[in-house]
Amino acid sequence: MQTKESLLSYDMMNEEQAKEALKLAVSLVEENVDEFTDYFPDSNSQANFYPKTENVEWTTGFWTGEIWLAYEETKSEKLKHAAEVHVESFLNRILKRIDVDHHDMGFLYSPSCVAAWQLTGNETAKRAAILAADNLMSRFCEKGQFFQAWGQLGAPDNYRLIIDCLLNMPLLFWASEVTGDDQYAEHAKAHIKTAMQYIIRPDYSTYHTYFFDPQTGEPLKGVTHQGNRNGSAWARGQAWGIYGSAMAYRYIKDKAYQEIFEKVTEYFLLHLPKDLIPYWDFDFDNGSAEPRDSSSAAIAACGMLEMAKHMPEVKAQYYENMAKRLLLALRNTCAVTSKEQSNGLLLHGTYARKSNENPCANRGVDECNTWGDYYYLEGLVRINKDWKSYW
Ligand code: GLY
Repeated sequence: MQTKESLLSYDMMNEEQAKEALKLAVSLVEENVDEFTDYFPDSNSQANFYPKTENVEWTTGFWTGEIWLAYEETKSEKLKHAAEVHVESFLNRILKRIDVDHHDMGFLYSPSCVAAWQLTGNETAKRAAILAADNLMSRFCEKGQFFQAWGQLGAPDNYRLIIDCLLNMPLLFWASEVTGDDQYAEHAKAHIKTAMQYIIRPDYSTYHTYFFDPQTGEPLKGVTHQGNRNGSAWARGQAWGIYGSAMAYRYIKDKAYQEIFEKVTEYFLLHLPKDLIPYWDFDFDNGSAEPRDSSSAAIAACGMLEMAKHMPEVKAQYYENMAKRLLLALRNTCAVTSKEQSNGLLLHGTYARKSNENPCANRGVDECNTWGDYYYLEGLVRINKDWKSYW
C-alpha cells in the first residue's frame, strides 16, 4: 500500500531518461521487425521470446501499433512497409471473419488501421477499420445497453460487458467522425454509461465483468474472469478503467467521467507496492510471491497522460508526474535492454493467473505481453512529444 504522500517521494523519468528509453525501445522494434512482418508475435512471450503467430486473438494490433509509433520517430520506410503489410492482413481478417466474433475490434484496429489512416492516409486501413467498427456494432445489446464481450449473442452465460471494452470505444467515435454516421458514437456513449454505472464499485475498485438479464436488461452481478476474486481489483482491469475513463472524458466531456478517472486512478496508485510495479491483482502487496503485471502500470501511465491533456494545469501536472514515476519504475525494473534478452519491450507481465474464483489457466505469467510492450512505448512517445492519439 502507498499513501498520497509516499507516492510523491518517487523519482520521475526525466527528459534525458525519456529520450534514451524511447530511443532504445524504437531500436528494439527495428531489430524485431524482420521476424514479425509476415507473422505477428503471439500475445505473450515464452521465456521472454515471442513465438510467431498468424493474425488471430485480440492482441495483434499492438505490435502493428508499436511499428507505427517507431515509424513516427524514425520515418523508416522499412517500418512503414511492415505496418502496411499488416494493414492488408487486418483487411483480410475482417473480410474473411477470422477470429472476429468478439468485441475487441478497437484493440485490433485502432493501433493498426486507424493509426495507418492518420499517419499515411491509407484507404485500405480506413476501410478495414470501418468494417471492424460495423462488426463491433453488431454486438450491441439493446436490453441492457452494452456491447457483449464474448460468445454467442444473447446467450445468458455470456450476457455481460467487461471493463476492457472501454478501450474499444474510441474506434466507434472515430468511425462516426469519418463516416458522418452518429450511430457509432451513440452506441459507444450508451455502453460507456452502462459500464460506468455498474462496473465501478463504491470504493472505486472495479469489477472485471458484469452480467445482465437478457430478457429484461436488468443488472445481475459482477464476476471476475481474470482477477483473483469476484470482489477483488484485478490490476489490469483497474488500469483499463483508468485509460477507459480518460477516453470517455475525452470524447464525451462529462465531468462524471473525470471524477471516475480520478477515483479509480487513486485506488490504483494507493494499492501499488514499494517498487510501483503492480501485482497482477491488488489482493497482493509487498512481500507476496505472486507475479506482477507490468502492463497494468504501462496502461495506467498512458491513461494519466491522456487525461492530463484535458485537465486544468495543477491536476494535469499531478497526473503527468505520476505517469513519469510509473514509467521510470518500468524502465528501471522491467524494460528490455537488448535483443539477446528478449524480442519484446517490457518484462514481468501476466496475461492470466489461475485462482480459485476465476476460470483461467496460467498463461504468460512473468512474461512480456504485446499490450505491455505497446503501452510502454506509447507512454514513452507521449512524454517525449505532443502525440496525436491512435485511439
Ligand atoms: N483484454 C484482455 C486482457 O486484458 O487480458
